[in-house]
Amino acid sequence: MRAGEKGIAVAMVISVVIVAVLKFKNAEEVNEVEMDIPFISDASPELTAKAGEIIRVYNCRECHFLWGIRDLDKAVPAPPLDGVGEFRDEPWLFNYLSQETPQDVLATRLKPQYRMPSYAHLSDDERKTIARYLATLKVKDWYLPDAKKKRYEKLTGNDYTDDAEIIQ
Ligand code: HEC
Repeated sequence: MRAGEKGIAVAMVISVVIVAVLKFKNAEEVNEVEMDIPFISDASPELTAKAGEIIRVYNCRECHFLWGIRDLDKAVPAPPLDGVGEFRDEPWLFNYLSQETPQDVLATRLKPQYRMPSYAHLSDDERKTIARYLATLKVKDWYLPDAKKKRYEKLTGNDYTDDAEIIQ
């Protein structure tokens, strides 16, 4: 190789490295943006508004995280509602919300004042609306293991391991 050719070869190697580094950096930035909000829902704006109002009036956020928000004064270890649609479907949710004693359906490990209250006194329409909305709450694929872990640990009080069963 002549000196000129060597120079060109070196320049090419350097530019390949620069392009690779820039691509990698970009990929990292994109990931940061994508990893911003892991929660998703395909509910219509009408359903979101209607359910959101009921959830606000009945203060579900006193105990549960929803869209990453909850009342932090109250330290109730309730499972997050973000992503609950990954674990529960609409009929299950409607049935659960209609129970006089929700603990007959989903066992508790908590003192009575922290347990899921009964919402059986809400109208059929209100319970249906919440159930329909909660069933749309999903998480992005990359966040699912974290969602499973958080839910499991809140429901059982135990550390999550890979072979832990999903609580049905
Ligand atoms: C006083 C605290 C409290 C309030 C208020 C509350 N919850 Fe709960 N919820 C819990 C707890 C704790 C659990 C776990 C079961 C248990 O310990 O009774 C639970 C469980 C659930 C589950 C099952 C979650 C799963 O992962 O399987 C759903 C769904 C739910 N709640 C929805 C609601 C909705 C909707 C509201 C408002 C209308 C609400 N909760 C209000 C404490 C609460």
